[in-house]
Amino acid sequence: MKFKKKILCIGAGYVGGPSMAMLAYKCPDYKVTVVDMNFERIDAWNSQDLPVYEPGLNKIVKKARGKNLFFAKDIEKQIKEADIIFVSVNTPTKTFGAGAGMAADLQYWEKTARQILENSYSPKIVIEKSTLPVKTALAMEKILSSPSGKIRFDVLSNPEFLAEGTAVQDLENPDRVLIGSHETRNGLKARQELVNIYSRWVPKEKIITSNIWSSELSKLVANAFLAQRVSSINSISALCEKTDADISEVAKAVGMDSRVGDKFLQAGIGFGGSCFKKDILNLVYLCSYYGLQEVADYWESVVKINEYQQDRFIANILRSMFNTLAGKRICILGFAFKANTGDTRESPAIYIARKLLGEHAEVVISDPKALKNAESDLADVKGDVKYIEDPYLAASGSHAIAILTDWDLYRRLDFRKIYRSMIKPAFLFDGRNIVDHRKCFGIGFNVYPIGKPALSHLHTANGN
Ligand code: NAD
Ligand code: UGA
Repeated sequence: MKFKKKILCIGAGYVGGPSMAMLAYKCPDYKVTVVDMNFERIDAWNSQDLPVYEPGLNKIVKKARGKNLFFAKDIEKQIKEADIIFVSVNTPTKTFGAGAGMAADLQYWEKTARQILENSYSPKIVIEKSTLPVKTALAMEKILSSPSGKIRFDVLSNPEFLAEGTAVQDLENPDRVLIGSHETRNGLKARQELVNIYSRWVPKEKIITSNIWSSELSKLVANAFLAQRVSSINSISALCEKTDADISEVAKAVGMDSRVGDKFLQAGIGFGGSCFKKDILNLVYLCSYYGLQEVADYWESVVKINEYQQDRFIANILRSMFNTLAGKRICILGFAFKANTGDTRESPAIYIARKLLGEHAEVVISDPKALKNAESDLADVKGDVKYIEDPYLAASGSHAIAILTDWDLYRRLDFRKIYRSMIKPAFLFDGRNIVDHRKCFGIGFNVYPIGKPALSHLHTANGN
């Protein structure tokens, strides 16, 4: 088949794989190839066992793979042939040198830019899909200004807003698609080409365009605002625990104000995932760089509250279990940073499990999709840690259960059966407020939700 255009995506991760699968599925007349320097990942994308777990993804990949969707290893050849290149490589927080712990590490990004330059013999549109500091396109353009100046590169910014666990529905029906470009004749022409691609399945009014710097910055700010809501509600959950107010009731009352809205007001053990923390720190670094210290401090507090929330959760476990966890078996239900993904990057569960092991607890970890990642996240820790997928087996013989991921299956567990198999007094720490606390208390558990009064038989017995 003769394809209208050849699209390449460099980076076959959580963003590159699903977003290109959707593009190929919606645009059968475009050839879409995804490459990665990690060949194991490419093999997995070509197998039955995709490297990323996302509800609905298998179906889309199967429909397009081998027809107009390809996962390939010959990066240089693919660059040569492509008309449009998305760059979706990782942009983690820098761990060394200037800006360590704050700024984005752009080494993968820059390597890609150089690779594109070295292997290009025809004009190309290069699209930033990775999340990048504002003004990165400038650096990209400087690298791509080829020595001979004969090849035209138009750089666009098209940040991705998908959330893990709902990637397929977010890609198929996004709240908005953002495309930033220079507002020059060539920039606008390139922008229109990308608008035309998305128009195949996204309503026109949801495709918004802007100047390239607004587009880059909007992505960081969108994540910062979302994370800020989580930290806001979590900070209030601490106050609820001191005052016998109930965080769910407060969130409902606040969220019903249409100016505030009811989403992202679920209190818990704090946000995880590969992006919120890194993107806020990146924003903080940018603000400091431009001398806006007050603004930097304001956004940094969002990350500090997130750390505080995890420490509070651990302190609560320790205090409730008579200030010692040594030799006690604690079952962690859920290790992924949120439900419906196997991703554990920056999952609060990593920090919490390490702290519990530091207290010499025996830790049993259960998760329907994230056990392999959990094992590698904790590979270096000393201590007694087991990985058991079946939640009933995992909980059996435990002194306490800590729910750390909001998997739906945990709402439906038979807690009576679990209670019977546990050491008494049995504790339940619901780090996501997802189970029926009164019911579990009725069964016999001492229940510790987030931002709600604890339901403890021990307190009642002591008259406290
Ligand atoms: P990821 O780590 O899952 O995937 C990135 C891939 O790029 C890796 O497989 C890596 O091997 C590959 N890579 C790096 N340098 C390369 C090079 N020079 N040549 C070829 N391959 C190379 O990362 P991700 O989660 O897909 O995130 C990618 C970007 O998208 C980040 O900037 C992230 O902030 C942003 N983002 C992520 C999400 C998400 O939900 N994960 C959502 C929106 C935006
Ligand atoms: C987030 C954004 O939602 C996406 O728009 C963005 O594209 C993406 O980051 C990114 O840039 O990587 P993601 O991290 O996949 O997506 O998942 P979210 O649903 O945003 O959840 C993030 C964390 O916040 C999770 O740990 C979740 O459990 C927590 N959270 C979320 C809460 O604790 N309470 C809430 O009310 C909502």
